[in-house]
Amino acid sequence: MMIYLLLIAAVGITSSQGTCPDLEVVQNFNVTAYLGRWYEHAKYPTLQEEGGRCVLTDYSIKDGAIRLRNEMIFLDLFPVHLDGTLNFTSTNGEAKLMVTPDILKIRHVPYWVLSTDYTSYSVMWYCREILGFTSGKPWILTRERNPPNSVLEIAYQVLKDNNISLEKLEKTDQANCTN
Ligand SMILES: *[C@@H]1O[C@H](CO)[C@@H](O)[C@H](O)[C@H]1NC(C)=O
Ligand SMILES: *[C@@H]1O[C@H](CO)[C@@H](O)[C@H](O)[C@H]1NC(C)=O
Ligand SMILES: *[C@@H]1O[C@H](CO)[C@@H](O)[C@H](O)[C@H]1NC(C)=O
Repeated sequence: MMIYLLLIAAVGITSSQGTCPDLEVVQNFNVTAYLGRWYEHAKYPTLQEEGGRCVLTDYSIKDGAIRLRNEMIFLDLFPVHLDGTLNFTSTNGEAKLMVTPDILKIRHVPYWVLSTDYTSYSVMWYCREILGFTSGKPWILTRERNPPNSVLEIAYQVLKDNNISLEKLEKTDQANCTN
C-alpha cells in the first residue's frame, strides 16, 4: 500500500498545515512476528490505490533484508505487484521504519507501526511534511481477510487514542478476490 504513495508525487487530499505529530509507536518491534501476510482493511483514500482492490502485502526476510511485496487487483483486470525493502529509521528498536521501493530507490516512505498484536491487527501510520503542509494517513491491516469486529474495534480505538479521524477511513474491497 505505502509504495503507491511514491508513484505520484502528489500531496494527499488529507493535507493540513503544521508538522507531523510525534505519535507513539510500538516499542521493541518484533520483525519476525510481523512477517507474513497482511490484508489491507481500511485506509484514507489515496490516488495511488484508485481502481485497486483485494490489497495485501507479504513481508519476508531475504538476504538479511526485510522485503515486502504489495499486491492488488487493478480495475478487476490484472494483479499489480510492487516490491520494496523495509528498514528501521530508529536505532532503539521502536517501530519507526521506512519503505524503499525497488522501482524508485531514492524515495523513502515513512512506515510507523502505532500498534499491533502481530496476530490479528496492525495500525500503520504514514506522515510526511511537504512545503509546510503535512499529509498524515493511517492504514488498518489485518491477518484475516474478513476480520471479526472485535479485532476492528481495537484498531479503531488506536486511531481514536491518537486523535486520528475515523471519518476519512475507507474500507478496502476484499470481496471475491482471486489473490
Ligand atoms: C519475536 O517473535 C518470534 C515469532 O513470534 C518469537 O519466536 C520471538 O521470541 C519474539 N522475540 C522477542 C524478543 O519477543
Ligand atoms: C535496508 O536494509 C538492507 C539490509 O540490511 C540494506 O541492504 C539496505 O541498504 C538498506 N536500505 C537502506 C535504504 O538503508
Ligand atoms: C488527543 O487530543 C487530546 C485532547 O485535545 C489531547 O489531550 C491528547 O494529548 C491528544 N493525544 C495525542 C496522542 O495527540
